[in-house]
Amino acid sequence: MKISFRDAGDAKLPRLLALVVDQDSLPDNLEPSVLEGAKSARFSGKAGQVFESFVERGGKVVRLALAGAGKPKAADRTSALERAGAALTARFLTSGESALALDLDHAELSAEDAAAVLTGLRLRGWRHDQYRTKLKDEQKATLAEASVIGAPYGTEDAWKVEQAVAAGVEFTRELVTEPGNVIYPESFVARCKKRFEGTGVEIVVLDEKDMAKLGMGALLGVAQGSVKKPRLLALQWNGGKKGDKPTAFVGKGVTFDSGGISIKPAAGMEEMKWDMGGAGAVAGAMLAIAGRKAKANVVGVCGLAENMPDGGAQRPGDVVTTMSGQTVEVINTDAEGRLVLGDALSWVQKEYKLRAIVDLATLTGAMMIALGHEYAGVFSNDDELADALLAAGKETGDKLWRMPLGPGYDKLIDSQIADIKNVGPRWGGSITAAQFLQRFIEKGTPWAHLDIAGMAWADKAGATWEKGATGFGVRVLDRYVRDKLEG
Ligand code: BES
Ligand code: MN
Ligand code: ZN
Repeated sequence: MKISFRDAGDAKLPRLLALVVDQDSLPDNLEPSVLEGAKSARFSGKAGQVFESFVERGGKVVRLALAGAGKPKAADRTSALERAGAALTARFLTSGESALALDLDHAELSAEDAAAVLTGLRLRGWRHDQYRTKLKDEQKATLAEASVIGAPYGTEDAWKVEQAVAAGVEFTRELVTEPGNVIYPESFVARCKKRFEGTGVEIVVLDEKDMAKLGMGALLGVAQGSVKKPRLLALQWNGGKKGDKPTAFVGKGVTFDSGGISIKPAAGMEEMKWDMGGAGAVAGAMLAIAGRKAKANVVGVCGLAENMPDGGAQRPGDVVTTMSGQTVEVINTDAEGRLVLGDALSWVQKEYKLRAIVDLATLTGAMMIALGHEYAGVFSNDDELADALLAAGKETGDKLWRMPLGPGYDKLIDSQIADIKNVGPRWGGSITAAQFLQRFIEKGTPWAHLDIAGMAWADKAGATWEKGATGFGVRVLDRYVRDKLEG
């Protein structure tokens, strides 16, 4: 969606005109037919409601839409404004209209409020139709442009920031949506290299030989059953003070998770193309942060591998030596994300003196059992970091719920033959997975792990996303950077 700012008097404004209205306060200069129509359609301006009608103005027919933004003093005002924008897109995306004029003149919005409407408008319009060559005309997205008129002072600047974040969310969605034959470790890196051109982000890539030299036996063990070679990708953004310790975002990038020799059942296995949702979120967050030139030092690391069961694949019972020197008994080859992340976490801690680490991973099915599709779980060794992430989640709608860690859980992953085993008992599966990761965190380093298994993909359209990849994680990371690293 192309978003531009124009004057109300512009003769070339499209015929589709939208107003954002607060609950129970329709502007009374509207035509009686609109006021009466809205009333009889039970449109009251609740967040996400849309009322549409046709009116004649100055001899021209105008397709007029009212989008509800809820009560102006509501606690979730920002998200309500996003929903107002998103509801307009949802209504008109395939309507045949190619452009929309959004009139904010009458609404009492701040620049940030207006930018929230635009965020919703844009994010709800993202689709991935490249492979759908036989779409009927009425299924095709037509709405491609929004012209904002009467925007409050400062909206353009606010939007410059927010559109960088939207671009990050969209990049994550793109990576997550692509199938495993298109996005695999090498092509994930290539896609990032291309996307980050000109952004000022420095890119470091390790191939399988580099990883072997570093002793990344766990990550390599996961990759060894696939013909696709693994990669470790680091995206560095140095927008902060020289010498300020960087914060690391680390993502699980299993570009396809068949389970390996502990193979998954056929039904639903196709979903495991999005098992790189953590890495996708890290890449998207880095794009957002670089795009808005954040004054912070951040490094994004993606551990990239494909988990397949060929003749060279690792076996249940294998013992691998990780970069940290710790040995792992691979009880179940389907618990591969923690193996990939363990080595990625060691690498980033060896490479950089870090202020904090946040990892993101579609790590466990058990996380979905616990929290469903409403919250991602956050596990942390540091209350301040956890609280900051919880707050950032609340502000952005990337909702997080704190989960426990502790020695009682930790001992469940002691192995008989090695230092650690890669699975614990059935119960508390998300927690033992987090405990596994914690064994790779050096003492004194604030660390949080976000298990986003239930959040990276949606079977139903949501407020600001079409069904499919949500882009979860980008906004909470970006907000964390704004509030804690730049603030
Ligand atoms: N990628 C999966 C977790 C997952 C499952 C994410 C479904 C999203 C949807 C992960 O690699 C996995 O297979 N985990 C196992 C761990 C088990 C073997 C201990 C799981 O959750 O079943
Ligand atoms: Mn798995
Ligand atoms: Zn996995």
